[in-house]
Amino acid sequence: MLSQLPNCITAPSWWQLINWIADPIGFQHRYSQKYGDIFSMRLAGIGSSVIVGNPQAIQEIFSQDAKFDTGRGNKLAEPLLGQNSLMLMDGVSHRRERKLLMPSFHGEKIQAYAEQICLITEQITSQWQIDQPFVVRSAMQKVSLEVILQIVFGLSEGNRYQQLKPLLTAWLDMIDSPLRSSMLFLPFLQRDWGKWTPWGRMKQGQRQIYDLLQAEIAEKRTKAEQKGNDVLSLMMAAQDENGQGMTDGELKDELLTILFAGHETTATTLSWAFYLIHRHPDVIEKLQRELDSLGSNPNPMAIAQLPYLTAVCQETLRMYPVIPGLFPRIAKSPLTIAGYQFDAETTFMPSIYLVHYREDLYPNPKQFKPERFLEQHYSLSEYIPFGGGSRRCLGYALAQLEMKLVLATVLSRYQLALAEEKEVKLQRRGFTLAPAGGVRMVMTGKR
Ligand code: HEM
Repeated sequence: MLSQLPNCITAPSWWQLINWIADPIGFQHRYSQKYGDIFSMRLAGIGSSVIVGNPQAIQEIFSQDAKFDTGRGNKLAEPLLGQNSLMLMDGVSHRRERKLLMPSFHGEKIQAYAEQICLITEQITSQWQIDQPFVVRSAMQKVSLEVILQIVFGLSEGNRYQQLKPLLTAWLDMIDSPLRSSMLFLPFLQRDWGKWTPWGRMKQGQRQIYDLLQAEIAEKRTKAEQKGNDVLSLMMAAQDENGQGMTDGELKDELLTILFAGHETTATTLSWAFYLIHRHPDVIEKLQRELDSLGSNPNPMAIAQLPYLTAVCQETLRMYPVIPGLFPRIAKSPLTIAGYQFDAETTFMPSIYLVHYREDLYPNPKQFKPERFLEQHYSLSEYIPFGGGSRRCLGYALAQLEMKLVLATVLSRYQLALAEEKEVKLQRRGFTLAPAGGVRMVMTGKR
């Protein structure tokens, strides 16, 4: 007999789906108050998942990685990213692909990108004018897109670069609201009837992006002797233990995956950081004092090691995790988690939000308090903005470096203020959660 999922939400599955799409944080908050930190939801057309907000249970999931399929759980992303995406892989192919990609995003490699990140930030923010309001999320999106284009794709000029930039932005903007995002969750809306349907436009944009990426890969292959320092060149040179490299199909899907996973997420987190910092004058003062202590033209790697700046980024990621839950993990065989027995094929979704707002771990969780990260150490299942286990975010080191360098570059040059006093709300943007309205700010002076 099949075992019953624990603490099932009793509302109709279509109602749960609508609420999950429109307000996934309110949804989790309401039901965790009713059922506790492990409960089960059922989304019409998608299926049931066990939401896990208990760190011990999450630790059990992370430590038994091999017992779950996660790529299969990410199938909603397949039409966007293609079947060769790391996010959709499991088992041996996932391990192989991560091994090929990992070196490009860690250690010395990312240190080499630091100067470039500062330069990109300077160029983009130098267009800000005193007293002219701007939307900080749009500015951060420009920065993070440029970082991906230059550092990952190796493109900073030329025809292809000029075409790709607006195409990528327009493509991601097609899912910039809860309503437009719903096509990702409702397969019956995924009909490619050309530019007359939202999905048709999405697929058309994807084909145009693929064509440009294919042309870039082909050109790089003919110029193999002039190896660039960008991630694409490194990916093209990478080989597994059998001497096999990545195919063009894999390269294209991974580029789109990195763009999709790395661009929106970093831009959104940076916007929240600017928002939170500027609502807390004491934080901005402390930050500026810490940055000033490095003198003029500090080494980017010295910036990356500043403790208070690091704590500000950690606290921002605690309060505003970019996705409502980690990737779904599907049990391959029956197992026990947190004392409950589960059948094979049960889907688990560790909830970043529920963990990050636990009173017992983060007293006064709605308060922005970077100091908590200076005072206490959190384990890998108590603080999970980048997920965990074998699926931990591939770009976590690059993302954190980028956040710190962008914040430091801006705060040491400009004085900014929020252009509106009202509280900024969360809004779904595709699979992610972003500040509604993008956070309006204004430059009040230069430093
Ligand atoms: C602040 C920025 C970012 C946040 C908050 C973030 C968060 C996450 C999270 C929560 C996951 C799921 C992990 C899990 O389920 O255990 C993930 C996966 C992933 N992230 Fe990030 N990410 C960020 C930036 C980046 C960047 C810059 C890149 C690439 C350059 C990137 C590439 C990926 C990839 C490829 C995966 C899939 C890993 C796999 O399936 O093995 N992310 N990220």
